[in-house]
Amino acid sequence: MLDRLQLGEVPKKPHTQLRHEGRLRFEHCLTRLGFDGPFTIAYRENAPHVQLAVAAHTAIAPETPAPPELLLRRHYLSQRLPVSPHSPLSARTPLLVSDDVAIGVLRPSGSDPVYFENGDGDDLYYIHEGAGTLRSILGDVAFAAGDYLLVPRGIVHRFVLPDGVAQHWLVIEARKDLHIPRQFRNEVGQLRMDAPYTHRDFRRPVFTGPLDEGLRDVVAKRQGRLTRYTYPYSPLDVVGWDGTVYPWAFPILAFQPRTSSVHLPPTIHGTFAIGGGLVCSFVPRLVDWDPAAIPCPYPHASVHCDEVIFYCKGNFTSRKGVGPGSLSFHPMGTAHGPHPGAYEGSIGATRTDELAVMLDVFKPLTPTSAALALEDPGYHMSFVPPELLAGRAS
Ligand SMILES: [Fe+2]
Repeated sequence: MLDRLQLGEVPKKPHTQLRHEGRLRFEHCLTRLGFDGPFTIAYRENAPHVQLAVAAHTAIAPETPAPPELLLRRHYLSQRLPVSPHSPLSARTPLLVSDDVAIGVLRPSGSDPVYFENGDGDDLYYIHEGAGTLRSILGDVAFAAGDYLLVPRGIVHRFVLPDGVAQHWLVIEARKDLHIPRQFRNEVGQLRMDAPYTHRDFRRPVFTGPLDEGLRDVVAKRQGRLTRYTYPYSPLDVVGWDGTVYPWAFPILAFQPRTSSVHLPPTIHGTFAIGGGLVCSFVPRLVDWDPAAIPCPYPHASVHCDEVIFYCKGNFTSRKGVGPGSLSFHPMGTAHGPHPGAYEGSIGATRTDELAVMLDVFKPLTPTSAALALEDPGYHMSFVPPELLAGRAS
């Protein structure tokens, strides 16, 4: 969570009366980590827990684990995922999952017809292509290509998408927690001057007061199951709120990269912490300047982490055959490294124009059946130099 905001109408102290023409407002306290973590208190015209009807809601891509037999480096072509006829809620397609995180992609084609609250995790979207508005009980956040977009768990929201705009998003459902890395903050919680971004880089909700779009249904997700609640009033009936839990957008290019004379580990690209992992941003930058430096990432075995990279734009120095929308998965337990020629070929480079989102996680990820359908079967062996393959064939 970022910093505290206070928008709209709130009483002088929490848990005291706020009335309008004599009618008492209802508090809606959203608390994290029990009552130990960040919280937001919204004030609503109506009680948030009074629902007229409850039903199962099934319109979501299933998360069907499909554990592979072999330990291989894998490449999924999310650019081959067909455009969904559905809105973002139903277009989410999980590809790699664990108890800590679900990594998916979506290519939605219309606005959500219902509101959504995710009880399974904080949703961090990366907007690879597209634009729109995240509409929430706490206000609107406009977003565009190149933005990260955070929707904290439990925030009632929907996506409003413009007609005729292609959408292609990455989604990281952080099932424990997502937060700014603690080392980026000073003792009063402000982002430090040596953090890789500033408070000004984030776009916070624009709140204009209660809104009635004529929609009454809220779909809640918990343990992968969806329940649809029908309310007797608009769920966007918030008159004011204060707290630190709210959606925001952060443009990836606002991340300030670090470079050294020789190669630094990927942790310097760390952008957001999730329980059990780290989200990193690889943005265009100058590269290592020591005359003997090898700017390309070294072959390595990160023996406690699975590594996932979503390639967004530019020429990724260590990879061949991947393009925008590609998602590579390098599991712990075996080494990975650059493609043939990339290691030596990077010597003398002065900059890179690569743009990518990386996720290192400690719990092993399992591909889903949807991932298998997008897999590039030749990826694991694409790291063998052609001359070795030729020698084997002769
Ligand atoms: Fe790596």
